[in-house]
Amino acid sequence: MGYVERAQRKLDALRDRDDYYILAIESSCDETAVAVIRGREILANEIDSQIEIHKRFGGVVPEIASRNHILAIDPLVKIALEKAGITKEDIDVIAVTYGAGLLGALLVGVSYAKALAYALDKPLVAIDHIKGHVCANFLAYPELQFPFMCLLASGGHTEILDVKSYSEMVVLGQTADDAAGEAFDKVARVIGLPYPGGPQIEMAAKEGKDCIPLPRPFKGEKTYNFSYSGIKTAVINYAHNCAQKGIEMNKADVAASFQARAVGMLIENAVKAALEKEEKTIVIAGGVAANTALREGMQKAAQKYGIKVMLPPKKLCTDNAAMIGEAAFFAIKEGLHAALLDLDADPNL
Ligand code: KG4
Ligand code: ZN
Repeated sequence: MGYVERAQRKLDALRDRDDYYILAIESSCDETAVAVIRGREILANEIDSQIEIHKRFGGVVPEIASRNHILAIDPLVKIALEKAGITKEDIDVIAVTYGAGLLGALLVGVSYAKALAYALDKPLVAIDHIKGHVCANFLAYPELQFPFMCLLASGGHTEILDVKSYSEMVVLGQTADDAAGEAFDKVARVIGLPYPGGPQIEMAAKEGKDCIPLPRPFKGEKTYNFSYSGIKTAVINYAHNCAQKGIEMNKADVAASFQARAVGMLIENAVKAALEKEEKTIVIAGGVAANTALREGMQKAAQKYGIKVMLPPKKLCTDNAAMIGEAAFFAIKEGLHAALLDLDADPNL
């Protein structure tokens, strides 16, 4: 029996269990992350962030990201295993993000995971980064069960999902252009705030007022879709106007106005979808879900409309490997575990 067949049998045997160890690896962008989980429990969740490295370039430089993943990954696996109190041999499954993301960055995680799986003779499970974000909620809320609605807002995605099961996540609404996090990052750059823009805008907004008129795309329309490019362009125009008139732009007011509009659209659409689809639970996911204005706004809306909102801790909203491990746990439960050694990274997954 070869590696693949052995791996498949092992995965089949784990399907109805929740007491086994998953070592998870995530390297899709600028965070090298390694976690150990068991069922819905996090035993280690280590992140080596490259934010400080990329800050000076105003955004992630793919080549530099890959090289730093190579440097970080092996020591981080050792730290994660130590924190979890297990050895390499105790691992039952290795999970890895294979897309979407930066090709070179993904390849570091995928190659490392493949080599480790083969050397240790352990099954390998390939995970879609986005499904990982959704599954972060299972770690934060042990009582959470399918189906539920998910508002997902990250650097690459902005979607309202009807999450029927692990394998069936139906898109009810999505962005027509930029993702919410991408818009935060671009607007931050326009007003001279460093990368990554989301947390910087959130901080600046605390000192400002929502007083600059910005468009509200799809207002009054029958859709759960989003659009961020018009809001972003309005901010760019406002900044140019200030420069032409020789007026100093109030960055805090721009940040507060943009955040109110960006977050407002997420909340309004998510609540509208939940009410119209008679869904009682909304979970939020993705890096933008770490935004305090979004979290507070969702909580207020939930109280007003009698909906339950689940807000995972911020560390589980932004990129991490525990969510990748949790996604693997559900993939295995559903029998969707292709045991493979020919896995390749898929940047456009
Ligand atoms: O999910 P994530 O960590 O990576 C992707 O899968 O894209 O999301 C990163 C995005 C970035 O665009 C970042 O600016 C945004 O999430 N973000 C935030 C906040 N923290 C991270 N946006 C708004 N407010 C925050 N506090
Ligand atoms: Zn992400």
